[in-house]
Amino acid sequence: KEIQEIRASLLQWYDKNRRDLPWRRINNGGDEVGIEERERRAYAVWVSEVMLQQTRVQTVIDYFNRWMKKWPTIHHLAQATIEEVNEMWAGLGYYRRARFLLEGAKMIVEGGDEFPKTASSLRMVKGIGNYTAGAIASIAFEEAVPVVDGNVVRVMTRLKAITANPKNSTTVKNIWKLAGQLVDPLRPGDFNQAVMELGATMCSPSAPSCSQCPVSRQCQALSLSMNDESVKVSDY
Ligand code: ADE
Repeated sequence: KEIQEIRASLLQWYDKNRRDLPWRRINNGGDEVGIEERERRAYAVWVSEVMLQQTRVQTVIDYFNRWMKKWPTIHHLAQATIEEVNEMWAGLGYYRRARFLLEGAKMIVEGGDEFPKTASSLRMVKGIGNYTAGAIASIAFEEAVPVVDGNVVRVMTRLKAITANPKNSTTVKNIWKLAGQLVDPLRPGDFNQAVMELGATMCSPSAPSCSQCPVSRQCQALSLSMNDESVKVSDY
C-alpha cells in the first residue's frame, strides 16, 4: 500500500512538472505506439542518456538536437565515421562514450537490425551499462526495470533512511533492488524519470525542499528529521 502511494504521488507530480525536453517529444506516451516509433524513441533515449551522463541538461539540448538532425535514426548513425562523431561530440568530453554509441549502432544494424528491447539484451551492446539499459528499456519499451543514477541513490537512501555508505557497491546493489521493487509496472519510464527529476530538483543534496516534495509523507529520513544540515542521511 505504501508502495502504491509513492508511485501515485510521484507520477502525479511528474505529470504536472515534467520538463519539455526534445528527447521526450518523440512519441509522447499514448498507447498506440508502433514498434518503429518505439525504436526511434529508444535511439533518442540512448543518445540523450549517454550525453546526460556527463553534462547538464541545458547543454545537452543543443548537442542532442544537432546530433538528431545529422543522424535521425540508428541507421543513419551506423553509416557515420568516427571522425564525424567525434566532431559532433566536441565539447562534451569522454569521447569514448561517443565511440561506443557509434560502435553500438553498427553492432545493432549490422547484426540483423533488431533493436534490443529488454534491459538484459541492451546490456550486451557495446557501451550500454545497467543505467542506460534500464533507461532505454523502461522509457522506450515500458519494461518495468529500475534506473539508478546518483540522484536516484539520494532519493532512495532518504526515502528509506538508508545510512550505509552510498558509495559502497553493496549499498548501490541494494538500491537497485529497492528501485526495482518500487518502479511502477504500468508506467515504468515515467516513474524512473520522476525519481531522477525529483533528485535533480526537490531532493537536492544539501537543501532539499521537503515541504514541497510529493513523497515527503513517505520519506523515512524526513520523519526521522535527518534531512536537515546537521544530520544528513546521504549527501551523495
Ligand atoms: N537525468 C538523466 N536522465 C534523465 C531523465 N530521463 N529524466 C530526468 N532526469 C534525467
